Amino acid sequence: MTFSKNLLLATAAMAMGSAVSAQSSPASYDQVAQIQLTFPAADLSPVPVPTSWLDIQGVLNVTFGNTRVSNIGDMLTVAQVQTAPTFTISSQTSAASSAGTFGNNKKFTVAFLDAGVAGKNVSTEVFCHYLGNNFTWDSSSGQLRNSSAARVAYGAPLPATNDGPHRYMQLVFQQFDNFTAPASPAANAPIQRLQLQDYYKNANGGLGKIVAANYIQIEVGQATAPSSTSAVSQASVTALAASKSSAAGSMTASSSAAGSTGSGSAGHSAAASTVFGGVSIAGILAVGSAVVVGAAML
Ligand SMILES: *[C@@H]1O[C@H](CO)[C@@H](O)[C@H](O)[C@H]1NC(C)=O
Ligand SMILES: *[C@@H]1O[C@H](CO)[C@@H](O)[C@H](O)[C@H]1NC(C)=O
Ligand SMILES: *[C@@H]1O[C@H](CO)[C@@H](O)[C@H](O)[C@H]1NC(C)=O
Ligand SMILES: *[C@@H]1O[C@H](CO)[C@@H](O)[C@H](O)[C@H]1NC(C)=O
Ligand SMILES: *[C@@H]1O[C@H](CO)[C@@H](O)[C@H](O)[C@H]1NC(C)=O
Repeated sequence: MTFSKNLLLATAAMAMGSAVSAQSSPASYDQVAQIQLTFPAADLSPVPVPTSWLDIQGVLNVTFGNTRVSNIGDMLTVAQVQTAPTFTISSQTSAASSAGTFGNNKKFTVAFLDAGVAGKNVSTEVFCHYLGNNFTWDSSSGQLRNSSAARVAYGAPLPATNDGPHRYMQLVFQQFDNFTAPASPAANAPIQRLQLQDYYKNANGGLGKIVAANYIQIEVGQATAPSSTSAVSQASVTALAASKSSAAGSMTASSSAAGSTGSGSAGHSAAASTVFGGVSIAGILAVGSAVVVGAAML
């Protein structure tokens, strides 16, 4: 049903559009919670993406040439996605910056996957349009950069005509030092079907959480999508944001990480930091979730 989908997108747009109106805006826990909860709301989780894989700590911006995805769930055209995308982590939570989640010794695996049409494609199998290991984060540009050849080089989406809106996810996985690429997809493989959970298992613990993610939609022709998406409720955003914030609090309390903000005890503190143009700004926005919601409505 288009009603629930529009509501979902409107909710995501409201929460993210104004909360991150500029690149230098920080990632609040509400903002990353909103991104994370968009996955189950869009029926992308728990299948094909298990909920336990998601721990969004940064805002992922995806750009195809001159086309920048403005909001999660945006509808793009086939013509707009012909150029291989670039991936930018435009802001991160204070927990991520304290823990060095995107630190310069960290690697990431980036996947661009078609999960098909909500309610219609319900299997764990996705269609892989890009898969790259060995990405690192460049703190001055915010870009994720590959340091080795793509496993599956980018092949632009072309969903079947009148199939309905396909959902294309961009997932950034933590890639640990002990990671060795699963045999399949083979090096230089063409775009192909992928059993995502098998790929993850075959990485033998070498892949961690999905710490940043986005998704876009592309439809060729027209079809009524089955009603299988829902809105993200503010209550669930507030609850997940509080749990991320208190997890950060216990983490910083039990470690001696530099720049620890100890924001967990405040519960509603939206602590965040952002790094752009080589300048790192870390700070605590001492605002409650209600204030964040209020601001997002303006
Ligand atoms: C991308 O970044 C811009 C500016 O930081 C922000 O307004 C927008 O919401 C972001 N898009 C997504 C999908 O996160
Ligand atoms: C989604 O389902 C349709 C219809 O069964 C199929 O043609 C298409 O290949 C599927 N797409 C994906 C990405 O699995
Ligand atoms: C990064 O990916 C691009 C595009 O696939 C490729 O041309 C380039 O060689 C890759 N960089 C490295 C260091 O392998
Ligand atoms: C990652 O990079 C290392 C060295 O930089 C290389 O040995 C390894 O094969 C790369 N892994 C993948 C999956 O490309
Ligand atoms: C690889 O490293 C990760 C993170 O340190 C760890 O959780 C995982 O168990 C390791 N896997 C193996 C097979 O040692």
